[in-house]
Amino acid sequence: MRVLGIETSCDETGVAIYDDEQGLLSHLVYSQVAIHARYGGVVPELASRDHVRKTLPLIRQLLDEVGLQPRSIDGVAFTAGPGLIGALLVGAALGRSLAWAWGVPAIGVHHMEGHLLAPLIEEPALAFPFVALLVSGGHTQLVDVAGVGRYRILGESLDDAAGEAFDKTAKILDLPYPGGPELARLAERGDPRRFRFPRPMTDRPGLDFSFSGLKTYALNSVRQELPRAEDPVQTRADIARAFEEAVVDTLVIKCRRALRETGHRRLILAGGVSANRRLRAAMDAAIAAEGAETHYPRPALCTDNGAMIAYAGWQRLRAGQSELLAFKPVARWPLEELPPLA
Ligand code: KG4
Ligand code: ZN
Repeated sequence: MRVLGIETSCDETGVAIYDDEQGLLSHLVYSQVAIHARYGGVVPELASRDHVRKTLPLIRQLLDEVGLQPRSIDGVAFTAGPGLIGALLVGAALGRSLAWAWGVPAIGVHHMEGHLLAPLIEEPALAFPFVALLVSGGHTQLVDVAGVGRYRILGESLDDAAGEAFDKTAKILDLPYPGGPELARLAERGDPRRFRFPRPMTDRPGLDFSFSGLKTYALNSVRQELPRAEDPVQTRADIARAFEEAVVDTLVIKCRRALRETGHRRLILAGGVSANRRLRAAMDAAIAAEGAETHYPRPALCTDNGAMIAYAGWQRLRAGQSELLAFKPVARWPLEELPPLA
């Protein structure tokens, strides 16, 4: 079975074809960064309009690259939420229409389920159950995963998501949008001993997160330290490093706790922030010391992409699920509401 996946929930247009015999055939991502950069964040209306322009040509290019005709596609998966409603509508309307024209079933995929299952795309032997840490721009969630669609939220962010905290702190440090990877690059040059930020909510039991205080901490550090800094570039790098260390440490502490509480031996990380190199290195070391395993998608499949939508869609289509022609996407959609596979 071959499934076309379409991702348009935010500022990336992603398309891919997943084949259950040959794996991921190809995936293409078009980023709208250049459009939103001057505004310092995603402008929803501009995002929707650009998806309208880019999605169909990108699907054509994808089919050309893999040398397939539409008649070789057995199903279409599109992101149905959560996300920007206008952006979601573009992918959903296009995906549902293509499936209708091609006479194949269509499925609306939960964006975070896409992230959550992404490690399985290239590591199909990865077995359930496991703990998943989902760290994206909109979500930070620890999930107990018993199987596809069998999710229990163990903890989540009470305020900013981890990626959002990266992006906001990057702005405070005058870094261009999108801030997360830029901040990580600046932190490489930072001295981890110069400043120490708190590890929020780690001194009490529980698996919830709170990252908005770190952004305030960064803002106060910038205001206090930069005016009297001898080397402002170095000081900014040191603040970036202290912030990154605090986020990474906090995520590591909570993941270790989640593994102990569930008794699971496998941890998967997914979502844009899981592309962070320091997070991966620290998590690998800490989780190995617990006698457990860590698994990640490759970095290009951590950030938004069509491959994860094609894969999650394939899991549901092959179980017989599909959407009616009148399907509507939704901006808000709790992960725990997803049905398990039959
Ligand atoms: O999963 P994703 O691509 O989109 C959402 O579903 O939100 O995640 C994007 C988030 C952004 O906040 C971005 O700054 C962050 O992931 N991000 C990173 C890195 N790469 C992307 N944060 C820290 N370090 C990175 N290397
Ligand atoms: Zn995402």
